[in-house]
Order: sequence, then C-alpha cells, then structure tokens
Amino acid sequence: MSIEYRAERRTLTLLTKNSVYQMQIGPLGYLLHLYYGARCEGDLDWLHLPRDCGFSPNPHELTEGRGFSLDTMPQEYSGSNGADFRLSSLELETGSGVVGADLHVLRWETRPGKYALDGLPASFANGDEAETLSVVLGDEASGVEVELLYGVFYERDVITRAVRIRNAGGGVVTLRKVASACLDLPFGRWDFIRFHGRHAMERQIERAPVRSGLQSTASLRGSSGHHNDPFTILCAHDATEDHGACYGLMPVYSGNHRTDVELDQGGSVRAVAGINPDRFSWRLLPGECFDVPELILAFSDEGLTGLSHRLHRFLRGNLSRAEARRRAEDRVLLNSWEACYFGVSETRMLALGRGAKELGAGLLVLDDGWFGERCDDRRALGDWTPNRGKFPEGLSGLAEKLSEDGMAFGLWIEPEMVSEDSALFRAHPDWALRVPGRSPALGRDQLVLDLGREEVTEHLYETFAALLRENDISYVKWDMNRSLSDVYSAALPPERQGEAAHRYVLGLYRLLGRLTGDFPAVLFEGCSGGGGRFDAGILAFCPQIWVSDNTDPIARLRIQQGASYGYPIAAFGAHVSASPNHQTGRATPLGTRCLVAMAGSFGFELDPAALSAEERAQLREQTAFFLRCRETIQQGDFYRLSAEDERFCAWQFVAEDGHETLLTLVLKDPEANPAPLHVCLKGLDPQARYRLECRDFFGCRNPIPEAPRTVFGGAALMHAGLTLPQLLGDYPCARLLFVKETCK
Ligand code: GLA
Repeated sequence: MSIEYRAERRTLTLLTKNSVYQMQIGPLGYLLHLYYGARCEGDLDWLHLPRDCGFSPNPHELTEGRGFSLDTMPQEYSGSNGADFRLSSLELETGSGVVGADLHVLRWETRPGKYALDGLPASFANGDEAETLSVVLGDEASGVEVELLYGVFYERDVITRAVRIRNAGGGVVTLRKVASACLDLPFGRWDFIRFHGRHAMERQIERAPVRSGLQSTASLRGSSGHHNDPFTILCAHDATEDHGACYGLMPVYSGNHRTDVELDQGGSVRAVAGINPDRFSWRLLPGECFDVPELILAFSDEGLTGLSHRLHRFLRGNLSRAEARRRAEDRVLLNSWEACYFGVSETRMLALGRGAKELGAGLLVLDDGWFGERCDDRRALGDWTPNRGKFPEGLSGLAEKLSEDGMAFGLWIEPEMVSEDSALFRAHPDWALRVPGRSPALGRDQLVLDLGREEVTEHLYETFAALLRENDISYVKWDMNRSLSDVYSAALPPERQGEAAHRYVLGLYRLLGRLTGDFPAVLFEGCSGGGGRFDAGILAFCPQIWVSDNTDPIARLRIQQGASYGYPIAAFGAHVSASPNHQTGRATPLGTRCLVAMAGSFGFELDPAALSAEERAQLREQTAFFLRCRETIQQGDFYRLSAEDERFCAWQFVAEDGHETLLTLVLKDPEANPAPLHVCLKGLDPQARYRLECRDFFGCRNPIPEAPRTVFGGAALMHAGLTLPQLLGDYPCARLLFVKETCK
C-alpha cells in the first residue's frame, strides 16, 4: 500500500521507495500540507505549531484562539480571496460576481491504478505499479468541487498530480486560474532552477536562491516555448549533482504555462504550477468538468543527478508509449534540411538516400519544400500535396525507390500553420487565429490555424491520415514554426475567448492522439523550430523531439546538458551537421560533432556527397559505434561530470544493468600549458573491474600516447578517477567505453 490514512491525526500519507508526502485534514476541513521529502515515519503535524501572526486572519468559525491561519499554515491546494495572501491555486468567479475559492475537504478515496485525464496526455502505470488518491474539496459559495488527483508510483519515486474541477452548483462559473499543483516547502533554504533561452539556444540553466516575494517562469506564446522551459527544480541551497534535496516539477502541458515561486513572511516557499492564468478563462456550465494538466513531481535527496535519473526513467517508461519508443530504435536517419533547404527534389533525395546508406543510416527524411508551391518559407503551408515538378511520381514513387535501395522514408510536416499565399487560406481565411479589425502578426510569414475548432482538426486529420495511408512513411517530423499571437477564435462567443489558447492545445492533442494512435508503425518526432515545444505533453505522443535548430556541437553541449536535467537522452533529436556550422559559423572536428549527436538520437543533417571518402568512412564507423552503444546511451543512467564553467564537458552513460559505461569528453576551451584533464566516474560497481574496450580521440593536433593500462577497479574509477592525456586543437574530444569484467 503506498497510500495510508491514519484516523487519529487525520493524515493522508503517500509513500514511495525513498520519499514521503503527507497531508492532513485540518481544522474546518482545510487540507494542510505537512511534508514532502526523504522517507521518515509517523504523523508529522507537530512540525506546524499554532502561530499568531499579525495581519494573518483566522477563520471565523474557529473558536480556539488565533493560532491557526490559512496565511501561515502550509496548504495542499490554496484558495483565493480568503485569508491566505500567498499564491493561489484556483481563482473562480460566479455569476453573481463572487471571486475566489475557499476549499474544504468533502470526501476522499483511494483507487487501484493511475487516473487518466480527459483530452490531456498523462503518465500511465504499467501493470499495478501505481495507486490513485482522490481528495475532493468543495467551495460552498460557487458549488464547485475540486478533485485533487495523486498518482503514486512507489518504485519510481514519483507522485503525479492533476486536478478535476466540477461545477456541482446551479450557476455558470468562470475559471480564471487553475493550477495543476501547489507545493509548500515550509522550512529550509531553497534555490530555484529554471531553463531559459531563445530560438537556437534553448534550455540554458539558471540557478538562483529563492528571494522574498515572487519569481516565475512562464510562456504566453501558445506553446511551451524556446524561452522558458515549463520544467523547473527547487533544490536545497547547498544541493549539488550528488547530494541534497531536490524537487522536480514537470508539467505535462504544451501550451501557455506558468510556475510561480514565492518566499513568504515566515520563510516558507510555495510553488504553484499550471496553465498560465494571463488571458485565460474558462466558462463551466452546471454539471461540466474541467481537467487541469498533470504535473509530475519527483523528489531526490541524492542531488540533481538522482532527480534526473528518476525523471528520465519515468518519462521513458511511463509517458511515451512503448511501441512508439521501439520505433526509434536501430534506425539512424539523414534529414534533408541542412543539405538542401528548400531545394529538394526526387533526384536529390535519391542521391542523399544513397549517401545516407553509405554512412550506415537506414531512414531518409524529406524535410520542408516538398509540397505545393513551397520554394521558400513565404508560401504554401496548408497545401499538403507533393509538388509534381520536384516529385514527378509523388511521394509514393520516391518512397518505393528508396525502399528498393533498403532505405525507409520519413516526412516533414507543419500541420498547425497556414501561409496567406496558399489554397487553404484562400478557401478558409477564418480558420487562422486573428483578432477582428486588426491585421494579425506574421511569424516566418505564416499564420496559425485555430486548432480549437473541430472542423480544422478534422481537415488536418483527413489530410495527414491520407498521406500516411497512401505512402510508405515510417517517420514524421511534426514542426511548429511560430508563436501564437492575435489569439481570437472566430468560432467562440465573446465570453469564451479566454478559452481559445487552451482549446488550441486540446485540439493539438486530439489530432496528435488520433494520428499517432491510428498509425502506430510511424515514429513521430516533435519539433518547433528546434526546441520550441520540448515538453512532457509532446513526449507523450512523440518519444523524440528535435532539441534545437542549432546543430553546432559546442553550443549543443550547453543546450543538451540543460535539457538533460529533466528530459531523458532518448528524447533528444540530435544530428551531425556540416562544418563550418550553418548557425554559428564555427568549425569543429567531425568526431566531436558525432560525439555530441550521440548523446541523443544520432542522425545526419548534411550532404554525404560533400564529404571526403575518409570522412564518410569515419561516419560509417561512428554510426556502428552508436548502434553498438545505443541501449546504454538512451536507456541507461546519464551523469553530468562537469560544471557549465569548466573548460571541458564530460558526460557518462551507465547501462541500465551496469554492464558497461561510456565516457565522452569534449574540450571547449583549449589552454596552453593546461592542468591535467581529470574526471571521476560515477554509478559504477565499486567491487567490479572494468576493461577499457574502446579509447578514441578525435580532432587532436597532438599525438596521443597509448593507454597506460586497460583494466580498472570500479571504486578506483569513481574515487581516484581517471586522468586523460592532454588534447590540443580546436574542440577535440575523447570517447572511452569500459565493460564490466568480473566482481573481485
Ligand atoms: C524548422 C525546423 C528545421 C526545419 C525547418 C524547415 O526550423 O526546426 O529543422 O525543419 O523548420 O522549414
């Protein structure tokens, strides 16, 4: 049993292998949050002593003095316009203008298995690994019931949260703010870690002590965005990669999001995460329900690495469907984008296919430029029929020819968009989001289709289902190349316009769910100008997402390391591209480009014909090496061995069963007369011996001496570490594979 109720103190306790989450049905039925952290026993209500705090009001009905205030007690799901002046979790408005929420426990129950949500992606249980706790809170003034849902995954050390709001009253209620979860950390000093960035430079880590007042991370772009990842971490001020308490907050949502963190007058920290309340509202008619997106909560008292491991395992095993994940295996792809841009044609693709095969790839992806009059990025989005000038025998002709050559075929699409210069826009101008009386902003010269409308998603489903039915397509790259602006739906009445952005996301999920469900043999990779919609909501449908349009390996070190805090390596779309790099102009060794792409899906984004025979041979070897290590890299445990400001970036992958480990190191900043290059490995069996199976260096200008020895003790590699030879040159790198031999 991972959920316990103890009647004496009215506590509800959620247990995972290494964590405890406890709440209490407190005075007047308020649901108090007692503790979330490392395993300990018993009821923990003694932590929160009565406290009379000036300007923190007390409930009227409570006659036992001034010791209890909602403003000072940790809450499980905070109300609004009541006595708690800290961050609210729910704000609603009744027909008579009453604003706020005052939430008391009505009932609770446990259920075997994991709850599901209506129209929203959510994690799932394999077999009987999860239990659900449902606690229903009521707001008397509005008649609204708020069902707090907890999915408890004991072995995974994960607790998922979601909220179902039901209008059980007689009048219309407008939701103004709905959070997936509220997390109060009443004691301790915490840092807030967020991942910010921009197009082509996503997921830059920023760690700062939680300050008094508010700090946030948010998106109002209609998608999770390049700029602020919805994933955040709260960790102990002294937490490191290996030590200290860390909480991961991972929203399973791809739209406007916001996570607020507040340090209050009493030193308590509250985090509230959910749909961004700015410009959001939702009218709930009597009897209707609204499901708030899920939030995955993970706790680790083994530092940030322990937190990443829990999240990686959970997102791999409990969010992306197994059959979708399997399709990503054993197939290296070559994508046409950086090789051809819009200049694609059957002839060029067949040549690329032959080149790709020589590199060991098995899948050729036809990127943008294949449809309608699409000769540049100004036109034709929406007109999803192959351009016959470029593809005289259509896509099926191309797919057949590729398959004769042993190559599978993949396709780029951007379903959510429309160009003004397109047959689709001319036929349905009202399908695009735009504010009446105002010209909509263009992004990459395109407009956004209103996916909140059934007829739009229906049209898109029919269009892409036909493409997938009629052509032998093994892979789809689903792109989304602008942010939502001018959000107004021609299909919604004025009082429902606040629903348009969320309805868009629901429509997207409906469409993605149908297409991925009806075409289970196709691998869908998510993309939004790179990592503009890299989130757990998309991962539920697409086990792989293109991390960034920036393919420069040195920039990618920071981008992929940032993404690795929350997301599994298996989810990273990463390709080897040409040098000098098209985004940064930087020249890097081929081996370094390969090594960084290997910390992900490993594919190609270049024209093999532009390479020398020697380079092609090296790429063939790199593909074989990746496939040899793919399982260890993608399904194993990932360790960040170096800090952001070090002159090298070292990553380590330990196979799930521990039988081997791969160390990769890239020199970011070559120095004269440098200190030794030294790293301590992690996650090994201290008792075992490890044989150095491969030791390769790429891009070095200096000769590399033989390895002084080839067998090492696990404890020695972890505690004493490993010294590597000096690497001189522009961004040289090292790749070392150790295989576990025996136990001493
Ligand atoms: C986006 C993607 C790229 C490429 C182009 C095509 O920018 O991130 O990889 O597919 O669109 O237009």
